[in-house]
Amino acid sequence: MNHYFTNNDNLKSERRIIKYEAYSYDFQFISDNGVFAKKGIDLGSRLLVDTYLKNKKDIKSFLDVGSGYGFISIVLAKVLNVNGVGIDVNKRALKLAIENAKINKVSVSFKESYIYDNIDGKYDLIITNPPIRAGKNVVLTILKKGLDYLNRDGEIWAVIRKDQGAKSIIKEISKEASVEIKEKSKGFWIFFLKKN
Ligand SMILES: C[S@@+](CC[C@H](N)C(=O)[O-])C[C@H]1O[C@@H](n2cnc3c(N)ncnc32)[C@H](O)[C@@H]1O
Repeated sequence: MNHYFTNNDNLKSERRIIKYEAYSYDFQFISDNGVFAKKGIDLGSRLLVDTYLKNKKDIKSFLDVGSGYGFISIVLAKVLNVNGVGIDVNKRALKLAIENAKINKVSVSFKESYIYDNIDGKYDLIITNPPIRAGKNVVLTILKKGLDYLNRDGEIWAVIRKDQGAKSIIKEISKEASVEIKEKSKGFWIFFLKKN
């Protein structure tokens, strides 16, 4: 079965242009078969970015875990004028993200990394619309292990759908971090965590 995080070189390409007007910019994203949200920007990702930007801090760096074709990274880099890094396991999504960063004239580097395997720096912000379909363990690792990749006062922001286990995931990470739910909208919970 093909998931949006499974690499499948044989999958026919069907590129589309997705236009997204927000924060006084006209963004354009190229998507394709085999990547998450290929038909349009995901509502959860939009709500995450909107909520983060309403509550933003003065950050100098961010890491987008499971960056897909780059929506979250590219919008944050543009609006906040900061450099960022996006990581994913889906090679096709990574290629698109690199292309999309050029189209939208932002400085984000995208690279392949299974969770934090190829990451050694620290960041002011880790942001993620995590791959729920990869399983709860992957999601919990992204959130818990992410604490080790934060600068002092850094935060991890995430979106999870209520019906995809938001409550139990938040309960679980509350044992190890301080968690605050910032928004509940249209079935999505937006929350952030930081070190205790
Ligand atoms: C829900 S999608 C979000 C994509 C993108 N951030 C967006 O908002 O459109 C989750 C992404 O996580 C990626 N992913 C799945 N397992 C991963 C892993 N173990 N490490 C890193 N990324 C992973 C998937 O390939 C997918 O692109």
